[in-house]
Amino acid sequence: MENNRPSIPTRQGHDTESIAWGYAEHLKFTLGVDRYSSSNYDRYMALALTVRDRLMNQWMKTQQTHYKQKVKRVYYLSLEFLIGRSMGNNVINMHLQPAVEEALSELGYSWEELREEEIDAGLGNGGLGRLAACFLDSLATLNLPSFGYGLRYDFGIFRQQIENGWQVEQPDDWLRRGNPWEIERPDIVVPVHFGGRVDTIVERGRRKYHWVDTTPVLGIAFDTPIVGFGGETVNTLRLWSARAAEEFDFSEFNEGDYVEAVAAKVSAENLTKVLYPNDKLYLGKELRLKQQYLFVACSLADIVRRFKKGGHSWREFPDYAAIQLNDTHPSLAVPELMRILIDENQLDWDTAWDITIKSLGYTNHTLMPEALEKWPVPMLEKLLPRHLQIIYDINHHFLQRVSIAFPGDMQRLNRMSIVEEGDTKQIRMAHLSIVGTHSTNGVAALHTDLLRSRVVPEFAELYPERFNNKTNGITQRRWLLKSNPALSSLITEHIGEDWITDMTRLKKLAPLAEDAAFRKRFEEVKQEAKERLAEVLAADHGFVINPGSIYDVQIKRIHEYKRQLLNALHIVMLYNRIRKGETKNLIPRTFLFAGKAAPGYQLAKLIIKLINNISVVVNGDPVASRYLRVYFIPNYRVSLAEKIFPAAEVSEQISTAGTEASGTGNMKFMCNGALTLGTLDGANIEIIDEVGRENAFIFGLTAEEVADLRPRYSPFDLYNGDKEIKAAVDLLFSGNFNFSEPGIFEPLRRALFDQGDFYMHLADLRSYADAQKQVQELYRNRDDWNRKAILNIAHSGNFSSDRTIRQYAEDIWNVQPCPVDTEHDPINTLEEARK
Ligand code: IMP
Repeated sequence: MENNRPSIPTRQGHDTESIAWGYAEHLKFTLGVDRYSSSNYDRYMALALTVRDRLMNQWMKTQQTHYKQKVKRVYYLSLEFLIGRSMGNNVINMHLQPAVEEALSELGYSWEELREEEIDAGLGNGGLGRLAACFLDSLATLNLPSFGYGLRYDFGIFRQQIENGWQVEQPDDWLRRGNPWEIERPDIVVPVHFGGRVDTIVERGRRKYHWVDTTPVLGIAFDTPIVGFGGETVNTLRLWSARAAEEFDFSEFNEGDYVEAVAAKVSAENLTKVLYPNDKLYLGKELRLKQQYLFVACSLADIVRRFKKGGHSWREFPDYAAIQLNDTHPSLAVPELMRILIDENQLDWDTAWDITIKSLGYTNHTLMPEALEKWPVPMLEKLLPRHLQIIYDINHHFLQRVSIAFPGDMQRLNRMSIVEEGDTKQIRMAHLSIVGTHSTNGVAALHTDLLRSRVVPEFAELYPERFNNKTNGITQRRWLLKSNPALSSLITEHIGEDWITDMTRLKKLAPLAEDAAFRKRFEEVKQEAKERLAEVLAADHGFVINPGSIYDVQIKRIHEYKRQLLNALHIVMLYNRIRKGETKNLIPRTFLFAGKAAPGYQLAKLIIKLINNISVVVNGDPVASRYLRVYFIPNYRVSLAEKIFPAAEVSEQISTAGTEASGTGNMKFMCNGALTLGTLDGANIEIIDEVGRENAFIFGLTAEEVADLRPRYSPFDLYNGDKEIKAAVDLLFSGNFNFSEPGIFEPLRRALFDQGDFYMHLADLRSYADAQKQVQELYRNRDDWNRKAILNIAHSGNFSSDRTIRQYAEDIWNVQPCPVDTEHDPINTLEEARK
């Protein structure tokens, strides 16, 4: 593309010369270094700024078009955006890669090397945050006018080190060397209030509420451009950073007050210091509530400001803004929007309520009770007294409606109430979110069914029209095109490049599964990816991986329900078999694990330790290590995931049925040609609906069977009834894997037996081991394996986040794509700047 060379390089030129020139200019004039003093990071920065320059014009044009066309915008509110690196994605989406590579090579640098300098933006825990990042890519690619809103944490998800097998958390100081992709907007400042009290006065017969004596904090905007594939639409991710409201009061400049003033300033700025590292766990910390409100208040103020520029009447607000709440984390948006409408803009309750409901939508992400947020009433009363009043009013109106629908059913009122009674009253944020929005969606078909039938059945009964399913998706631009260039080229060579923007086109690969030459090519590409990963892990961690072994991969947060422990139990079974000499026809297998555990989640951290100890014993056993190796790769993050998926062959998706809402890793494996080894949980079900059960390895109890069995489940019976399982469990807890650390795995034994094995590892272990045998059998005929792998890629099209976003756009948001003029009009920046 546009790789022709004009005689004069320009700041917006997409040609090699312009890019080389831009790089040199940034190195000298922005970064102030020369080739003698520049580090690799400086060179990465200069390149990133050069790429960013090429986004600017289209960014502004996009925003101007949206104003001119008076579009309805999507506002995606998420406390997490797990972006990872931006360089590769931006360069690919703008079709800049050939010119960038050539420019760098002419300058004597390597594109591969420089892009490795980029530090991941790890502003999220796991699936929920990465989903938000995939959505941004799809929204922009589909030309949907949208903003992502979130918080700019100074420290993202912690860096995981492994010391003597244990997880050790290190702070993720990701901004320490500067972030070239963001633009600080010091003038876009929102004051946000905490504390104080509410005065009620009656003016001309109407009650008015004044929230006074508050402590203000400021939110400052930082914008990151989000470019869609093809470079047409450039949307904005706006992240808020907390600042103290007032600079020093010099009149108080004496020793005591000075120190206090500085301390107060620091405390305000601590609000966006760090991301909470919990996945699917609600803790009820005051700082977290403050983060949520700062985020919601800044974002809604900004949305309202933009709406007001259009000069519309308030009733039209839902025609211009679709605000999606990613889980309940932003659910204070319900009372905050009501407060803005009623207190600040004098709308009556019913009108304000109608506007609020119509403009908000809520996505539920979990079936885990411990993840459901409930804020103590005393905490809300102290920090957000006006919001608490509004929540009580909402609840009053809501319960009136319930009691009309179900007269005399007091217990139902208690169950459904937004306020949970008890020693400390609590606000149930999921109830608030369902009541205060027009749409509640689950993230996979099974999850939505269970949401309707088990989690909040009475809400589904009251508001059947509000409940809907939007199965999650992933962006094929990052998870295939960017992270697996060799497979992408092979695909494009055979079916063209339409799949990049329409993933369902991958279906055209299905007939090629029957083509022996294509299968061979696929195998070569997979084999190269396996060798590359082995090299990377050898260089980074000293792992010794046999590229001829089956790569069996479980990479995701470490959580009991995801059952890394089931995988570990099976590894011990295999180990026992090998020790007994049962190695006939055994194909060597490499089990790869990666994932972080929440720092306070002791059992999850112990699972990491167990895997590492198993790894030491198995890999150190001269016989076993010929067939079996186990590695835990430290510090799982987006950029590491991108290196693992292309090489994976077995995708471990082994959660207890009915616990994983959707999963999205399963989709990334699938489109990279790994076969799913999974339970009938989350989106696994839809994956096998697409590819066929015969092209995956499905095992274990169904969600229904799990629920039926639970009351009479006995892990002891299963242990006693299966010799091989008994032997594996016995070995695991015999001290064989921890002879110098006696008793450390005792909590895991207790969880499996004394505490009843809530996640039913033992119930599924036999069928899991059988499914693993089938994996081995199939792999023996690599050609058959390849056929199924290709069919998986071919049938992965439904799991594009483009499909998910189109469904949100049509069913929930009612927003239309807005094309942006891409004609290359020669921009005279000076002309533009004139008034
Ligand atoms: P905001 O909507 O005020 O946050 O502005 C976002 C971007 O939209 C700005 O940086 C401008 O590029 C563009 N923009 C803002 N106001 C207008 C307008 O009135 N007409 C056209 N474009 C605008």
